Amino acid sequence: MNQFAPLNINLLEQRVEMLPLVRKIVYLDETTSTNDLAKQLSKKGEYFGTLIIAERQTAGRGRRTKRWFSIEGRGLYFTLIIEVPVIQNLQLLTLAAGVAVAGAIEAVCGLNPGLKWPNDVYVNDKKLAGILTESISGGSGSMIVILGVGINVNHEPDDFTEDLSGTATSLKILTEKVVSREDILVEFLKRLTYVYQEIIEGKGAEVIKLWLEKALFIGKEVIVTRKNTTIRGEFVGLNEEGAMILKDRNQKLHQIWSADAVRCPSI
Ligand code: BTN
Repeated sequence: MNQFAPLNINLLEQRVEMLPLVRKIVYLDETTSTNDLAKQLSKKGEYFGTLIIAERQTAGRGRRTKRWFSIEGRGLYFTLIIEVPVIQNLQLLTLAAGVAVAGAIEAVCGLNPGLKWPNDVYVNDKKLAGILTESISGGSGSMIVILGVGINVNHEPDDFTEDLSGTATSLKILTEKVVSREDILVEFLKRLTYVYQEIIEGKGAEVIKLWLEKALFIGKEVIVTRKNTTIRGEFVGLNEEGAMILKDRNQKLHQIWSADAVRCPSI
């Protein structure tokens, strides 16, 4: 049985009223995937600024065809439909969202999350949150970005399936307190508004700087699988578009994009 209260949407609406990225909230008990629903809605137009939140997803999706565990009432599972006015760098927006999630968790819970490139959020080597950014082309040169976020908030250790129990964690497990999902969501949206604005104003370097402040594995060995090849090297930093820069043992530099699978041997 779910002991947690449903989200207080009236309160949420009041708290996000001043944020330009959120125009409307769609709140559902259940959907397949908030990203899938966002895609359907955005194809019909007019839905920019719609924030879709579900208490439960029956087919929550992660990056690279993984699933996202979406148990009822415990987590935050939401998608924001954003219209980007000109062709902007989607990779930077993905990094910006990771910065916003990590910042919100730090502000609300006092934890110090790290970011695994491109935007998995970790604490103590366990995954707390993930982001799935997808884009579809909008009309007249604009781009529609489907920004999906999953955060493990009030999960108990027993809630996770066996395959996740060694690798996933939640804010409740880490803080030993029930955490307000509304507080996390509002703080995320405020921080996203800031980093989004930076990108729109051409200050992507500021987003890269914020991301690097929380980066995990800089200077460490990572293994990247791209199509049928594997590249092993040191994670030396990011380029200005947010791609990972990897230095192999022959000192050759490689640019890694988020379609590639990145493994960090220590987690
Ligand atoms: C990942 O870490 O692989 C990304 C996880 C993204 C999960 C969220 S939950 C809300 C939204 N809807 C989905 O189906 N996925 C994203």
